[in-house]
Parts: sequence; C-alpha cells; structure tokens
Amino acid sequence: MIEVKNLTFTYPGNEEPVLKGLDFAIPRGTIFGFLGPSGAGKSTTQKILMGLLRGYGGQVSYEGKELNPKEEGFYSRLGVAFDVPRFYGKMTGRENLRFFASLYGERTPPVDELLEAVELTEGADRKVQAYSKGMVIRLNLCRALMHDPPILFLDEPTSGLDPGLARKVRELIAEQRTRGKTIFLTTHSMETADELCDSVAFLAKGKIALCDAPVNIRNRNREKDVVLTWGKEGSYQEEALPLKGIHKNPRFLSLMEGGDVRSLHSRETTLEDMFIALTGQSLGEGERL
Ligand SMILES: Nc1ncnc2c1ncn2[C@@H]1O[C@H](COP(=O)(O)OP(=O)(O)OP(=O)(O)O)[C@@H](O)[C@H]1O
Ligand SMILES: [Mg+2]
Repeated sequence: MIEVKNLTFTYPGNEEPVLKGLDFAIPRGTIFGFLGPSGAGKSTTQKILMGLLRGYGGQVSYEGKELNPKEEGFYSRLGVAFDVPRFYGKMTGRENLRFFASLYGERTPPVDELLEAVELTEGADRKVQAYSKGMVIRLNLCRALMHDPPILFLDEPTSGLDPGLARKVRELIAEQRTRGKTIFLTTHSMETADELCDSVAFLAKGKIALCDAPVNIRNRNREKDVVLTWGKEGSYQEEALPLKGIHKNPRFLSLMEGGDVRSLHSRETTLEDMFIALTGQSLGEGERL
C-alpha cells in the first residue's frame, strides 16, 4: 500500500538532514509501528507521507504511484491524528467533529458509535476548552476515523491516557485493521507497539536501525534471563542470570540451595532492550503505562 525508498529530508535552513535514507513498506491491512526517541524524525516522516512537507529526496508511493497530494480525493482517503491536536475550544466535541467532516465535503458521518467506543458520549456535548488532555486525544482519534478512510496516520494515539482507556483505544485500532485499514502508527510506547503492530521500525539518528515483526525482534539472537527473587520479607533482592547453562550455574545453584528463593521466572527480551542494544539510545520519556 505504502512504499518508501531512500527517503531523505532536511528542514529548510538546517544543514543536518533529519532523515538520512529510510526504506520501508506497509502492506495493506497491516499496522506499521514507527518507534524512536524524541526528535528522531517520526512526525517528520509522517508529514512527508501525508504530503504536508515537500522537498524530500527518494520515493514515496501509494499503490505503486508516486505520492501526489493534489490528486483528487487524496486527503479523504487519509485519517489523521496529529501529535498536537487542534480543536475549537468554544465548540463542543460533537460540533468540532461536524465542522471537520464538512471540510472533507462529506455529510456528517455517524459518530455516536465512535464516541461511545472511546468513552466520550457524555463529554461530546461539552466545550472542548473544558476537556482533559486524554479527552482531546480521544476526540482526535474520532476525527481521524469518522470518515472511514482506508489509511490511518496516528501519532501517539495512546499518550496521556490511563491504562484502561489506552486499552480501549488499542482495541479500536486493532478493529480498524480487521476492517482492512492500513495504519501508520507513531509511538514511544513499547506496549502499544508490541501488542498492535504487524511490523515495527526503529528510527534512530535519521536511519532505520531495524524493521521486523515484534515477535522476531524479541527473539532475535538475545539470550533469555532467569530472574530470581530471594531473601526475607521486607528485604527481597532480585537477580538475573542467563537461562543458558542455568542448571550448572554456581550462583544459581547456591541461591537455590540457600532456600530463600521466593520466585523464579524467565524474562523475555523486550522491544526496548533491542532498541537500546541496536542504537545505543533509549526511547526516552514517552508514555509508560
Ligand atoms: N518545522 C521544523 N523546522 C526545523 N526543524 C524541525 C521542524 N520540525 C521538526 N524539526 C526537527 O526535526 C527533528 C525531528 O523532529 P520530529 O518532530 O520529526 O521528531 P519526532 O521523532 O516526531 O519526535 P517526538 O517523539 O518528540 O514527537 C528534530 O530535531 C526537530 O527539532
Ligand atoms: Mg513526533
């Protein structure tokens, strides 16, 4: 559906390029997660794919045709939730949605089901200036989905939401995939990426360090650890030992013989571990649920 080849971009007036040659493809009906620390170029890439930033190098194609935002109906095929949502504060949530639907030149789409899915039914008739951050994020998602577009660009769709609402939003996004939508998702959240994405790309310093399915990344040539908790109540300690050869690891055997071991479990490599191992960078302070 979307194919990107050797994408480069430098903001006007800057010397250092933000993107230094990205390659990836997003098949139809899949969720592509774009991960990277703050300032890596995630939103920049998203804006190029949406035709909002010109002057890029390389190729961006939709269904084999070079990106052309002037093509008729281009924007009505996209659903977009920007990282910094803008709404009219003096209008209610529902009025805002109606207004934005009119910009797409569409009749007002049915939004009640969407509002209910993100628990905004009650809030919909309140003025947006009185919304909490999480309500704005959810209204933003409704705006992206309401005209039922085949391609979605979602920038940090679960940031600022409590764990229950973040889960609802993830379910809503997963449901969009089952309906055949192609989704480009930008996130700092490993949970969101791991649970939702068919493939993820790690962006660091303007390049893609790795692009693969989360399950493949987690199991990539990293050895698992066994985490032991031991000690007396109130002063427990934890220690990780490599799973490989654990049956003859002297430290493991001595802890087990000590009789104070309270728990024992194997630890999977997380996407974040892999990100740090590959890029030497952490994902930074993003959302943590
Ligand atoms: N309009 C602009 N003009 C000049 N530089 C910009 C502009 N917008 C972004 N940048 C720079 O480009 C780099 C990438 O920014 P971008 O917003 O794409 O990062 P991001 O990965 O989306 O970060 P975050 O996780 O914080 O949203 C940053 O160094 C940023 O300062
Ligand atoms: Mg961003």
